[in-house]
Formats: sequence, structure tokens, C-alpha cells
Amino acid sequence: MIEFGLSDIAIYVPPYYLPHEELAAVYGVPKEKYTIGLGNQNMAVIPNWEDTVSMAANAGLQVLEKSGTDPGDIQQLVVCTESGVDHSKPVASFVQGLLKIGTRCRVYEIKNACYGGTAGLVESVELMSHNAKSSRKSLLIMSDIARYGFGTLGEPTQGAGAVAMLLEKNPRLCSVDTSLNGIFSKDTFDFWRPTGYDFPVVDGKFSIECYLSALEGALSDFRSNAGIEQGRLMDYLDYVIYHMPYTKMAGKAHRRLIEIEYRGSNLETQEEIYNKTFSSKVAPGLMGAREVGNIYTGSVYMGLVSLMEHEREKIEGKRIGLFSYGSGCMAEFLVYHTKTKLGKIIDSLHFKDQLDKRRKITFKEYTQFYSKSQEEVVHSPSEMNSLKNQYTKFLFTGFMDHKRQYI
Ligand code: CAA
Repeated sequence: MIEFGLSDIAIYVPPYYLPHEELAAVYGVPKEKYTIGLGNQNMAVIPNWEDTVSMAANAGLQVLEKSGTDPGDIQQLVVCTESGVDHSKPVASFVQGLLKIGTRCRVYEIKNACYGGTAGLVESVELMSHNAKSSRKSLLIMSDIARYGFGTLGEPTQGAGAVAMLLEKNPRLCSVDTSLNGIFSKDTFDFWRPTGYDFPVVDGKFSIECYLSALEGALSDFRSNAGIEQGRLMDYLDYVIYHMPYTKMAGKAHRRLIEIEYRGSNLETQEEIYNKTFSSKVAPGLMGAREVGNIYTGSVYMGLVSLMEHEREKIEGKRIGLFSYGSGCMAEFLVYHTKTKLGKIIDSLHFKDQLDKRRKITFKEYTQFYSKSQEEVVHSPSEMNSLKNQYTKFLFTGFMDHKRQYI
């Protein structure tokens, strides 16, 4: 049987972070509200010489290089984002130029809140399987800047980053059978950003309820597609990754999953199963959300990168359940089957290394970065070159004739 899925994956995060402890001190909030209540430690902060495009290109370049893929062999380039830079020109076209991807390539952008990345993945995999004879390679990138504004309840869940994947037939990293995917969608107003608004409008508590109901719906659909009886899911899956605006959301989601799976068992048994399965199947994937925050479309896939770097060879030949949620709302539960001999792919992830090399900034520096609109940004390309490094290869220098400029 021909399989389809991921042959490689890479992540890019901006080089600055603000500790939640400092954010809490400024707002006079107990730091435990953020570090325990939300479960996040640090928040990625993107400087104004980087943006959705440059992060996407930085992640995309990494995945091409680490997998030894020639940009000319990419026949489909999809960038998924809810923080796009233009109402018309797709982020993917900027990335095509920066990565020198050829013209015989289908290039487009997908917007569908945080679900956008999974929409891109399912669509790419299904397109490949409809034309199984071709050896099409797809580059799928999720890139986002999650911002809620100063002093808002969403502010401690902000973040920024991009995840890039190489998708193809007979994948080297993991395969996915999309015919089993569990789906749930509903028209809701839990988190949205009307055109012209800089920040989203959020009904925070309601968004959590929408997320959990969507999980319940998607799981029930998945169970019936895959023929898995209630109570058997934890035996079937080796790991579970949830969409994570903050790490505590994964805890809430897993608790709901256990309640559904073990409905009828007493609370003590449920609690025991929750604790045991959370620490072995969910916790190994939490590092990204804890250190970076929400990266919207890429969040759940940052969980996959975190899990791989944490578990290393233990991840080989396993089943990973992944729950993708996008406000509005659309959710999907899918299962990845990992391959063997993943050492090289995992060794070249360098996620922890990127996090270790970041610089801690102050609240004042954070407000300086985030107070300037992109239209006000003008950087001299010659000065900017010194900001490039092993991971940051592309930077945004401002507008010229209404056109975004990158070096
Ligand atoms: N010590 C320890 N814990 C504390 C604490 C303290 N001193 N003070 C408060 N807490 C706990 C609270 O008990 C609460 O925990 P539980 O949720 O387990 O009860 C937690 O800290 C958060 O505190 P609040 O309930 O007071 O929450 P808040 O009013 O500050 O808002 C939020 C939290 C709704 C998540 C808000 O940050 C928000 O609106 N975020 C953006 C929307 C979002 O991320 N929604 C998630 C689902 S939607 C989605 O997933 C799509 C997406 O990516 C946006």
C-alpha cells in the first residue's frame, strides 16, 4: 500500500523571549497564574525586523536543507497563517521568491484560524493520493504571530513561530491515513478578528468550551471511522498532542478525553488514568507551548517537534494522536504512524538549541517592539545583515513602493 505523510519537519522561533514572571510583575498578577494556571514559562517575542513571511522562509529553508531537498523539486508550496501580511498577495508567494522555488509549482495561502495548518496538511496529502503515480513533493508551512494587545487576558498566551514540513509519498518520518480522521465543525464566535482589526476579539472562557466540545465531536467521529470502542483509545495511542494556546489547555483537553473514554468509571479511577497517561503520553510534547506560547496554525505541530526531540528514538514505530482546533470553529483528530531510523531527522531539529540561544528581553523592550506598526519599520539592509545567524537567514527591512522588502 502506498503511504503519504511527512518526510521531514523543522521549526523556527524568533530570537527573543519575555519571561512570564516579568509580565506578571508588571501587571501585579501572581506569577503562578501564568506559570501554573496557564502553564507557560516564557513568551516568544518577534522583533519588528521579522514577520510572518520571514519566519515562514526561515522554517522552510531549514526543512529543505535538513532533508537535502532541491527547491526546484517542490511542486506545491502552501503557507497557512491567520496573521497574513496582505489581503491579496499570499505569504506563500513571498516565500517562493525567498526560497527560490521554481515556477512549475502550485503556490497558495490558507487561512482557517489555528486549524489552517491541518487543512493544508490534509489537502496536500489527499491531493498526492489522488495522483499516486507522481512523485510530487509538497512544502507546507505554518507561520503566525499570536498577539492580543497590552493588558488583555490573552496577552500571556502570545507567541510567534513557524513550522515547515516536507510532504511526500512513502514518507520517511510518519504517515497519515486521512480517511480515518475525525471531524467536527460548527459556526461559533469564540475567537475572531474582523477585517481591519489589529487584534482578535476573544470570548476566552467560551473559547475553551468550544474547543472541548469540538474535541468530543472529533473524537467520536474518529472512533467510529477507525472502529475503536470507547475505553480503548489510550491502548491504541502511544502519544497524544493537543492544539496548545498554552500548556494547561492540553491538560484540560486530556481530562475531557479521559472523562469521555472512561464514562461510567468512578472519579478516582479516572484521576489515576489521567495522571498516568498525561505524564507518559502528553507531557513529553509540552516544551514548545511552555517556552514559546501560542503560534496558532503551527501550535499543534510545535507539539510534534517537542515530542520528537524529547522522546528521540522512543518515538519510532509509534501511533501519535493529534487534535487540531481552529476557532470559528473547525477541529480534526488524526493519527500519525512514525517510521523507524529517525535519528538524523531528530538530530537536525535543533529546537532546544534555538530556545537556548534566545535572548531574554525586558518588558520595556517588548513594548518597544510591539508598539511600532510594520508600515513604520525601516531598516538598513547593511546593518541588518549582522542580525542573521544559523537559524535567522531572512529578515524584513520595511516597505518600498508599498512592497515588502526582505534580505
Ligand atoms: N495560581 C495558580 N493558578 C491560578 C492563579 C494563581 N495565583 N490565579 C489563577 N489561576 C488559574 C485559574 O484558576 C485558571 O485555571 P483553570 O482554567 O484551570 O481554572 C487559570 O489560572 C487562568 O485564569 P482565569 O480563569 O482567571 O483566566 P483568564 O480570565 O485570565 O483568561 C484565558 C484565561 C481565557 C485562556 C485567556 O488567556 C484568553 O482569552 N486566551 C486567549 C483565548 C484562548 O487561548 N482560548 C483557548 C481555546 S481557543 C483556541 O485554542 C484557539 C486559539 O489558539 C486562540
